[in-house]
Amino acid sequence: MSFAYVVDPGPGVGARPPRTTADSDAPSLSLNGLWEFRLDQGPWTELPVPAHWQLHGHGSPAYTNVSYPFPIDPPFVPDENPTGEYRRTFQLPADWPVGDGAVSVLRFDGVDSCFAVRLNGTPLGHAKGSRLAHEFEVGALLRPGANTVEVVVHQWSSGSYLEDQDMWWLSGIFRDVTLLARPEPALDDFFVHAGWDHTTGSGTLAIETAGPGVPPDVRLSVPELGLHDVDPAGPHLIGQVEPWSAESPRRYDAVLRTDRETVRLRIGFRSIAVVDGVLTVNGAPITLRGVNRHEWHPEHGRALDHATMLRDVLLMKRHHVNAVRTSHYPPHPAFLELCDEYGLWVVDECDLETHGFEQVGWRRNPSDDPRWQEAMLDRMRRTVERDKNHPSVLFWSLGNEAGTGRNLAAMAQWCRSRDPERPIHYEGDRDSGYVDVYSRMYANHAEVDAIGRREEPPTDDPALDAHRRSVPFVLCEYAHAMGNGPGGLSEYQRLIDMYPRVAGGFVWEWIDHGIARTTPDGRRWYAYGGDFGEPLHDGNFIADGLVFPDRTPSPGLIEFAKVITPIRFDLDLTLSAISVTNRYDFRSLDHLAFGWSLERDGQPVASGTLDFPETVAGDTSTLPIEELLATVGGDPADDGELWLTVTARLAQDQPWADAGHEMAWAQFPLNAGRFPAPVTSQASTSVSAPVSRSMSAPVSTSITPMSTPAPTWPAGLRDAVTAARLDVWRAPTDNDRGCGTRSLALRWEQAGLHRMGHRTIDDSTESGVRTVRTRVAPAASDLGLLATYRWRETDGVLRLDLAVEPDGDPARWGDLTLPRLGLHLALPTSLTQVAWFGLGPGESYRDSRAAARIGRWSLSVTELQTPYVRPQENGNRSAARWAEFTDAQGRGLRVEGLPTFDFAARPWSDAALAAAPHPHELTPDGVLHLHLDLAHDGLGTASCGPGALPEHRLRPGKAEFSLLFRPVVVASPS
Ligand code: GAL
Repeated sequence: MSFAYVVDPGPGVGARPPRTTADSDAPSLSLNGLWEFRLDQGPWTELPVPAHWQLHGHGSPAYTNVSYPFPIDPPFVPDENPTGEYRRTFQLPADWPVGDGAVSVLRFDGVDSCFAVRLNGTPLGHAKGSRLAHEFEVGALLRPGANTVEVVVHQWSSGSYLEDQDMWWLSGIFRDVTLLARPEPALDDFFVHAGWDHTTGSGTLAIETAGPGVPPDVRLSVPELGLHDVDPAGPHLIGQVEPWSAESPRRYDAVLRTDRETVRLRIGFRSIAVVDGVLTVNGAPITLRGVNRHEWHPEHGRALDHATMLRDVLLMKRHHVNAVRTSHYPPHPAFLELCDEYGLWVVDECDLETHGFEQVGWRRNPSDDPRWQEAMLDRMRRTVERDKNHPSVLFWSLGNEAGTGRNLAAMAQWCRSRDPERPIHYEGDRDSGYVDVYSRMYANHAEVDAIGRREEPPTDDPALDAHRRSVPFVLCEYAHAMGNGPGGLSEYQRLIDMYPRVAGGFVWEWIDHGIARTTPDGRRWYAYGGDFGEPLHDGNFIADGLVFPDRTPSPGLIEFAKVITPIRFDLDLTLSAISVTNRYDFRSLDHLAFGWSLERDGQPVASGTLDFPETVAGDTSTLPIEELLATVGGDPADDGELWLTVTARLAQDQPWADAGHEMAWAQFPLNAGRFPAPVTSQASTSVSAPVSRSMSAPVSTSITPMSTPAPTWPAGLRDAVTAARLDVWRAPTDNDRGCGTRSLALRWEQAGLHRMGHRTIDDSTESGVRTVRTRVAPAASDLGLLATYRWRETDGVLRLDLAVEPDGDPARWGDLTLPRLGLHLALPTSLTQVAWFGLGPGESYRDSRAAARIGRWSLSVTELQTPYVRPQENGNRSAARWAEFTDAQGRGLRVEGLPTFDFAARPWSDAALAAAPHPHELTPDGVLHLHLDLAHDGLGTASCGPGALPEHRLRPGKAEFSLLFRPVVVASPS
């Protein structure tokens, strides 16, 4: 067989011009299901369509980020080119139009990466563009009864050079295959233009139906708008119409009709405009609180079913996400329909990335090679034509990381002429010469701040620079959500909220692309790059999402939701007033019910509702709460810790969540000042830096005896407590490991922080205080820390005052940070339950703790662990006032902070946590490893992007840390 087309840089031959997706009443027949299949001329077997053959036992998945897994030798591909043959015989329904003049098309919604198709033995053509639809005309070839369709699919093709997205290489027919009857003449294509005038509230509707094959007698009806069998071309001016937005996705049912065909559509009216460099829709500036979404399912790869797509949309809506960038290809068409229906702004990205050429200095990059122009234009046309009728689509994106070049410019030019109503996005165009949006990925906070102020450094060409300054700014990727993190979201959101020029951003990325595997004894785990023996791979860089592969929200999503919630509360204690600010772009807060509750030391005291007046977008409403404060106390002398919690919940069911769903919350201390580690409730305020603050926190010396008789320590437990050792290392997070040369983890390792030894300088007891002075240092280094432990026991309560300082000149540490500063204790594993009063219930870190709230929490040790796809530091609980670690009988250890501490408890050591490639490879070692920390280094997002902000860094310095330890005993029955 000759497969010359495979390496032809052209887009293919024989497919019909691209057109809109449409819900037509013309007959259609799904050809999804089991097909006959063989790989590389092996034995014939069966394979489902849609699916990837590598996920059904044929060949293996492979993961690379930037690198092409074949030589860069465009447009050629290796001789070893896995090729799948598909065959299926289907029965044509008896009433299917066949014979002279009958037109039918065979539609493929996605085949990776190149395919040729035959019907009843006759070749129809071949195509490339994996995530794009291709239709082939088959009318004349169809026969009543049995028909056979054959498809040859090649894993590698010239198209692979254009599809170097950071994802698994997976092949096959992975989206639907459908046979569609097309009446003659047919209503093949249409383009809805539905604008909205915010000054009058009126809409304009004009539907282009001109184009190949379109009959002259098309009629349009939109009954709700009083349009009945009118000429779709209009334009029709509609007096009053409700606009579409991601917040209120109002659509109007419409019908386009010819004598032969009826197409149902749902029209959303909206107008996009850039006004003074600010992105507006329907006359109002909008803020994109977005995510980058790859299509992913842990068992099916990019072959998504409808339920999975819906789950993504519902999860996004419930977590306040209002925008999606379809990184880096057009999604399954049903996903866009869901975005229209539930309300999400979409950056619809073309199926294009040539990132691997960067590794050879962009030499021979297709983006600037005329031989590839047709293929690149074809991809853009197929994207726009298929998706143009979705009101959710806000921008067209030319693709991702494809360098620069004339083919990209040609794509932009075509796009602009075809759809002048939508701005064009492409991040790789640093000058923004041919796009309408200034887009950056992983810009740090300071850069975003400068861009917000319009003070970013100019680029070389003054005309291009002026253009770039006139368009809105988006972070098309930021806050790389790999492993534990992202840190620094609150600080980004503050900038996004502050600067009108900054239209918002899209977290990288929505989901970890782990592939589900099962151990022989039935435990599930998720594979990443290298787990299939790939010779070239990028490891767990594929697991960088806000949700785990099974779509369980990670702590990062919980944090993101808290930071972006469009409802903000403020308490003014001097005025005794509480206010709510509406940060939606359009909708009022009348869909919400507000409540308050008061807790003293984490125990409920009182609760009630808050009756805010109607608050329109952008406004703030304030309620006096003297009465509330008077009823509940609010006395600064109250010796309990008083916290007011306010909440906003859905008052009625929404299409995406039930009434009662919590939309926002905030907590306010009513007797501030007692606790030196305040918790802020607002996204825009940075959390206090625990280190600088706690390091100089005054140490109180009194131990309050418990009212009950002095408890007796079980000997082993007391020894375990007094054996507590200073610990400064943590199992590096993906962000600590960083990327390229910027690895904190490596620097920590080079400094030996993971192998510190302890030398006792002296150990003496005087007036009941045992003082142990040690020097804590790694081999082969003269850097060290002096740790002084002062132990005192009063009435069965042990008090530890720990003082730490660098040995010698602190400047010798340079800019090295400490991963953590705290104590490690080895406790019995019988302590399986943890209860605490502090921030929870989820994990939190100093630059990712907006979502943690003050309360009393209780979880098992197992529940404290966060199962990141690659094991790493996790599970820290912050600002605990006290915590109890108890066994099944309720006996154990209570730790009290003076004033607070962070803790993590796990059945394995940090060394084991750092070494295990996957969670199922972690084995309990017979000890409960308890970490009691004064501080951690921040998380940041250095796995791809900036590290932690300076105020979240933990630098070696003088520190003091005080804790009380008591045994928890169970009273014996008297
Ligand atoms: C960007 C790229 C994404 C992804 C991300 C890192 O450069 O556009 O596709 O690779 O980095 O996870």
